[in-house]
Amino acid sequence: MSERTKIQAPTGKLGVLIPGLGSVASTFVAGVALARRGRALPIGSLTQLQRLRLGKRTAPREVLIKDLVPLAGLDDLVFGGWDPVETDAYEAARHSDVLPPHLLEEAQDDLRATTAWPAAFCHDVVRRITPQRVKRGTHREVVEALREDIRAFRSATGATRLVMAQLLSTEAHQPHGPAHEDLDALEAALDRSDPAVTPSLLYAYAAVQEGVPVLNGTPNASVDARSLQALAARRRVPVAGKDLKTGQTMMKTVLAPALQARMLGLRGWYSTNILGNRDGEVLDEPANFRSKEVTKRSVLEGILRDDLYPELYGDYCHKVRIDYYPPRGDQKEGWDNIDIVGWLGQPMQIKVNFLCRDSILAAPVVLDLVLFLDLAARAGLGGIQEWLSFYFKSPIARPGLRPLHDLFAQHLKLTNTLRTLAGEEVLHHTGLDYYSDDADDDPARRKDAA
Ligand SMILES: NC(=O)c1ccc[n+]([C@@H]2O[C@H](COP(=O)([O-])OP(=O)(O)OC[C@H]3O[C@@H](n4cnc5c(N)ncnc54)[C@H](O)[C@@H]3O)[C@@H](O)[C@H]2O)c1
Repeated sequence: MSERTKIQAPTGKLGVLIPGLGSVASTFVAGVALARRGRALPIGSLTQLQRLRLGKRTAPREVLIKDLVPLAGLDDLVFGGWDPVETDAYEAARHSDVLPPHLLEEAQDDLRATTAWPAAFCHDVVRRITPQRVKRGTHREVVEALREDIRAFRSATGATRLVMAQLLSTEAHQPHGPAHEDLDALEAALDRSDPAVTPSLLYAYAAVQEGVPVLNGTPNASVDARSLQALAARRRVPVAGKDLKTGQTMMKTVLAPALQARMLGLRGWYSTNILGNRDGEVLDEPANFRSKEVTKRSVLEGILRDDLYPELYGDYCHKVRIDYYPPRGDQKEGWDNIDIVGWLGQPMQIKVNFLCRDSILAAPVVLDLVLFLDLAARAGLGGIQEWLSFYFKSPIARPGLRPLHDLFAQHLKLTNTLRTLAGEEVLHHTGLDYYSDDADDDPARRKDAA
């Protein structure tokens, strides 16, 4: 058993700062409000519902994650945010039309209390939105205004800790340049208000400078920038991203590892979606869709390993489409057609039709990330939190490390990190020890049985 990590107790309020008070953000705030009053179950949240096995299979203890590590309670969460359109989370929830009216009304007070400051906004990177409430000025002035908002929120709510959850619209894709790669170059780019530094990076920079952990739920350039990671590491601030893994990509990271584990080949994977919310409208702009395409496409390469298995995965066709279709609202529908190859090169097909609710899947992911990043900060973990890869389409990892995409490998990494923080043995599933002749009688042999 390893030594339990010293973790500060989660005393006082935990403030959640949200750039982008849209569908996901308002569904998240409403869900927390209803769950804390016992009006709804926080389904989909590991921090609220999942149990981890501790110890050997011969004497297991199945413990709730929230009893294993000290997490902030739902009652301690307070919310604030920034948005160029919405004034508070109630208006955002009404416009996004995710929640049925009775739940919306029950959560109304908490949603109304989640108000939005004017946003750091750039029309060139989100053309489909007509902003009404934005901060003006140079990059440095906007960063300072964001930092003032953060400090004002901290003192108005009395929050002892803060986490930033980036849930703003998808920005137009930009390849990483020097400002994303190097901290000095980022500082210089801020000095000259370089348009390569988009609002997502401004929010992240302001948060890290204020010592606030950041999760990037969007495909935008933010904490995946090496320059920002260098700042986060220097300031010992935990960061995680990017782009929440919710519907189609979650299924992809379940199915692709299964194909690879069985050494079945792949000829093609065609993924298409229809959705009709504001996220879909923003993604209707080709430059914005490109950001999403990049994060959605990265998963197969990461899992299948064409470098190791060129004969199985060296030449497959991977297409990803998203069509904005207003009648569907937030009720996304995704189709996947997967052309696979088996024994003697014989072709087969898999079809997946996932009728999901985008924000319903995303909200518990945001909750878990907020609580785990706060845990990381209290445990003294700074910089990239790779153990949170489980929640992201395009997880960030240290330079030189291949990001982990397989959902169950990510889950084991997450849960083993929690076991380690709690001073428990990690789970490693070795398979021989239970069946040696005297395994049950010999404690020394049982030691390694997992
Ligand atoms: N819904 C999901 O399942 C899901 C999954 C993965 C990732 N995401 C990402 O999460 C983000 C939010 O998704 P959503 O469905 O809530 O979208 P949404 O359009 O409902 O909400 C986005 C909000 O961000 C605001 N915004 C735009 N630019 C901003 C800026 N510069 N500063 C502050 N606010 C800004 C918009 O006004 C809007 O209210 C998107 O980037 C989306 O791609 C969503």
